[in-house]
Amino acid sequence: MNSTVTPILQVENLFAGYTDEDVLHDVSVAVPRGKIVAVIGPNGSGKSTLLKSIYGLVPRRRGRIRLLRADSTSDDLVRLRPHAVSRRGVNMVPQLQNVFPDMSVAENLDMGALPLTPGERADRERVLGWFPMLATMLRKRAATLSGGQRQMLGIARALMSDPTLLLLDEPSAGLSPAVVDEVFGKVKAINEAGVSVLMVEQKARQCLAIADVGYVLDQGENRLTGSGAELLGNNEVIQLYLGGGGRLAALARSQGAHPEKPGAAAADPGRAGA
Ligand SMILES: Nc1ncnc2c1ncn2[C@@H]1O[C@H](COP(=O)(O)OP(=O)(O)OP(=O)(O)O)[C@@H](O)[C@H]1O
Ligand SMILES: [Mg+2]
Repeated sequence: MNSTVTPILQVENLFAGYTDEDVLHDVSVAVPRGKIVAVIGPNGSGKSTLLKSIYGLVPRRRGRIRLLRADSTSDDLVRLRPHAVSRRGVNMVPQLQNVFPDMSVAENLDMGALPLTPGERADRERVLGWFPMLATMLRKRAATLSGGQRQMLGIARALMSDPTLLLLDEPSAGLSPAVVDEVFGKVKAINEAGVSVLMVEQKARQCLAIADVGYVLDQGENRLTGSGAELLGNNEVIQLYLGGGGRLAALARSQGAHPEKPGAAAADPGRAGA
């Protein structure tokens, strides 16, 4: 990846899986500090597994997951459990079950601040500044919220740990187009406030449109990487992962991508030069 920004997260040659069989094979992904990185790919390609591996929820067998601080020191997350990953400034909003339905909105937010010390937690008022609508329903049970409101609560809960890196697994899943736009808008605003984002999405086109860098995973392997605009304009991505050309190619062109330009998106970073 050609980026002058130093990474906040560097996943290198990762092998991971739930059973003896690996789901991720030699996957490498870098998140430049302060940027949005999108991971797209077909169902079952290992996108959620990648996020869960970073967050300590899936056994990792080989490779490194380095979290780099601004002073260039780093932690390897490979042996850490989720609470320890959270304490280092990484939090995840899972694809499913990302709120506690029987708890109130306020209790959900408080859960997001665990297991941090008061000094490490984000101020609830500050987090609610992103989501003013949640501030009006603090006592409501999360189960009674709409899908969009729940998704916002899931993100707000993760922000309560004051993360420097947010892992988002399909934040747009199951939402109406208007709410999807709202969620993507929030992600962009949160990123602009300084939170780096690694985001997995089925809504690949919209996700790449707000991403600085994109990766395509296929069958647990790196397939392609490039800037969001490059991937939006890449013919292979359009045909195989974005559902064809036409309108999508036009959108990519309008965003300044060059679909016909050779090398617009680089092949498999894990094997670059191999
Ligand atoms: N808890 C689990 N136990 C065993 N295998 C799993 C588990 N979760 C996922 N897998 C397997 O890992 C592979 C990758 O699944 P994963 O959920 O990472 O894909 P995905 O790219 O996120 O797909 P989707 O777009 O449908 O969310 C699949 O073959 C899946 O069956
Ligand atoms: Mg998934």
